[in-house]
Amino acid sequence: MAQTVLITGGSSGIGLELSKLFAQDDYELIIVSKFEEELSSASTTLKELNPNVNLRLFKQDLTENGAAEMVYKYVQTQGITVDILVNNAGFGSYGYINETDMERESDMIRLNVLCVYQLTRLFLKDMVERDAGKILNLSSITAFQPTPFFSTYAATKAFVKNFSRAINYELKSKKSKVRVTVVCPTSTRTRFQQASNMAGMKLFDGWMAVDPELVARDAYAALKSEKDMVIPKRVFHYLNELTKRLPTNLLMRVSESQLK
Ligand SMILES: NC(=O)c1ccc[n+]([C@@H]2O[C@H](COP(=O)([O-])OP(=O)(O)OC[C@H]3O[C@@H](n4cnc5c(N)ncnc54)[C@H](OP(=O)(O)O)[C@@H]3O)[C@@H](O)[C@H]2O)c1
Repeated sequence: MAQTVLITGGSSGIGLELSKLFAQDDYELIIVSKFEEELSSASTTLKELNPNVNLRLFKQDLTENGAAEMVYKYVQTQGITVDILVNNAGFGSYGYINETDMERESDMIRLNVLCVYQLTRLFLKDMVERDAGKILNLSSITAFQPTPFFSTYAATKAFVKNFSRAINYELKSKKSKVRVTVVCPTSTRTRFQQASNMAGMKLFDGWMAVDPELVARDAYAALKSEKDMVIPKRVFHYLNELTKRLPTNLLMRVSESQLK
C-alpha cells in the first residue's frame, strides 16, 4: 500500500522539491500551505510529473492559534494514516532586533517553533503506537551558533535542531522504530530570501548558496537512510565540523560579514 506524507509548505522552494521526490516515488501527498494559488500551482506541477499522484491540498495559515490541531483533525476525519511528517514551512526575519517587526517575529516563532512542536507531538504519538513512521524537520545552518541580525530566526532553528535530535535519541533508547531526521541547509535560492527581508543579499548568490533541488535530494536521502541530521552538500558538513572549534565571537563576526 502507498505511504502517505504530510508536508507543510510543500507548495514552494525546498518543500516543493521534496514533494516532487515523494510524488515521483508514488507516495500519497497532503500539502499544507497558506495560499490557494500556491497550492494549485504546486498541484499542476506535481500532476505533470506524476499524473497518478494522489494529492490532497489543505489551505491553512500555520501561524494561527490551533492550526496544528486543525491539520491533525483534518487527517483524522479523512481516515488517513500519516507515515511521514515533513515540518518544512518557515520563514526568516533579518535585521537589528529593535528594527524588526515584533508581530511578524512572533508569527515566525509560532510557525518555526510552536507549529513544528505541536505537529510533531500530535503525529508522533500515533507513530509510536504503530511503531512506524518518520519525521523530517527543516532547521538551518544558522542553528549551530548565535547569529546577529538573524537572531530570532537562528534561535528558532536551534530549537528545531535540538528538539529533533533529542527526540530521535529518546525514540532509539525506547527501542522505537520511529525516526526523526533534521536538515540544516545553508542559504538556498528560494522565495525565503524575499520573505525574510533579505532581498539583494549577496549570500544567496555566493559560494554558500545552493539550489532547493540539492537540499531536497540530500534531505530525502537522509530520511530514507534514517540519518539523525544532514547538512546538504557535503562540503558544508565538513566546514561546520571545522568551525565548531572556533570561538563564538569570531563565528558571529564571520556571519555578520556574510549577512550583508
Ligand atoms: N532558503 C533558505 O536559505 C533556507 C536555509 C535554511 C533553512 N531554510 C528553511 O527551509 C524551509 C523551507 O524554506 P524555503 O527556502 O523553501 O522557503 P519558501 O520558498 O519561502 O517556502 C516556504 C513555504 O512555507 C509556507 N509557509 C510560509 N508561511 C506559512 C504559514 N504561515 N502557513 C502555512 N504555510 C506557510 C509557504 O507557503 P505559502 O507560499 O502558501 O505561504 C511555502 O510553501 C523553512 O523552514 C526555512 O526556514 C531555508
